Amino acid sequence: MAEGLPGGGEAAAASVAGCETYDACFDLGHRFRLFDRPGTFRVSQAGLALGDHLVRNVRESELAGRILDIGTGSGAIALLLRALGATSIAATDISASAVSTARQNELENFGDSVIDFWHSDLFPGAEAGHRERFDLIVFNPPGWRSPSELLKAELAAKRHSLDLEAMFYGDSVLLRFLKHLPEHLAQNGRAIIGLNSLIGIADIFGRSRSTDRPVNDATIHARLLERHEFPLLFYTEEWLQVRSSLLAQFEQGRHDYAATYVTKGNTIHWFYEITEVTVTEPATPSLVSPIGDHAAASARLLPFAEMAAAPARALQHSGPEPLAG
Ligand SMILES: C[S@@+](CC[C@H](N)C(=O)[O-])C[C@H]1O[C@@H](n2cnc3c(N)ncnc32)[C@H](O)[C@@H]1O
Repeated sequence: MAEGLPGGGEAAAASVAGCETYDACFDLGHRFRLFDRPGTFRVSQAGLALGDHLVRNVRESELAGRILDIGTGSGAIALLLRALGATSIAATDISASAVSTARQNELENFGDSVIDFWHSDLFPGAEAGHRERFDLIVFNPPGWRSPSELLKAELAAKRHSLDLEAMFYGDSVLLRFLKHLPEHLAQNGRAIIGLNSLIGIADIFGRSRSTDRPVNDATIHARLLERHEFPLLFYTEEWLQVRSSLLAQFEQGRHDYAATYVTKGNTIHWFYEITEVTVTEPATPSLVSPIGDHAAASARLLPFAEMAAAPARALQHSGPEPLAG
């Protein structure tokens, strides 16, 4: 495997029905054999970290409720939720080939089909006006912003083993996700999303509070749950080939929207910030209290705007303040 390309899970194993496969291994022995197909995002270190967080933290009440995995890719997170005991899971992806691979991965690993896989933009059936609410929404979104004009031109000349949407356009996707989240979270529901610090996390939440406000005049609350540091991966050969333009975009992002990373030797290290997102609507402030389940409830529910000023009891997102390291 070329340096800088992903090695999610364990090394590729023997082929299943003539296709290359690999194993994605999560905490507590949850292990899935997944097809490695062009057009389907291969589970990365970030996806594994998100899955491990769910293994340790998903609540019984959430497993008993309705769950949505957005941007399911290989389906690994949806499969993990099923293995953890969830019985009512929907999963979406904008990539038709990802949806078909995810369906096959469920069949291969469980022997039957229980998960509702949708070829949809963010929320299931949104294009057809389908509107459903979920107790838990999990989203490991594309981690990079929309490609610069230079990058787009360079990439246009190359073959595409993976659609750009697998890793680019994370800014617009996240803003649309936050905007419409109030229509899709059940009362007391929450979303757990994995944010890449290269995207400029504080800037995204800031825009969601100002120019790209959520529907229903709702307020988005974000609480950082875990931060991981990972070396940059390029995911595909063609993205590795445009490495210098990609790095230039990240460098520009430092100035334009506080993209955050550290450089160690020749390698960029970025931060993966697993974040809980909840919503309150103006007419229902009493919905706030049941979400918190311990004394730190007030910290959990701070709107992101207030988090920057919050004392050290809450982890803080990577943002304009420089990070040590
Ligand atoms: C970083 S990958 C994560 C894949 C998988 N959840 C994982 O953790 O391995 C992001 C996924 O989001 C999908 N995606 C991007 N934009 C989307 C959208 N608007 N609606 C649904 N899925 C989207 C991509 O096709 C890709 O499969």
